[in-house]
Amino acid sequence: MEQGKKEKTSALIKVIEGGPLEIKGNFILNDLKRDITETPAEVYLCRCGKSSEMPFCDGSHKKF
Ligand code: FES
Repeated sequence: MEQGKKEKTSALIKVIEGGPLEIKGNFILNDLKRDITETPAEVYLCRCGKSSEMPFCDGSHKKF
């Protein structure tokens, strides 16, 4: 994202019980660790800490 440029975003964030955060809509995902900035339509972000695809849910939460 260009510095100083403001982008309009809106998203729905749903907490899935025992699972990830579901985020849908118009938003920007800025993953500083992997140097990625993208605008996906939806993502599932891990809340359990067990995913091998962090920050994304890989379904590992179902194993515990
Ligand atoms: S919430 Fe699904 S792997 Fe962590």
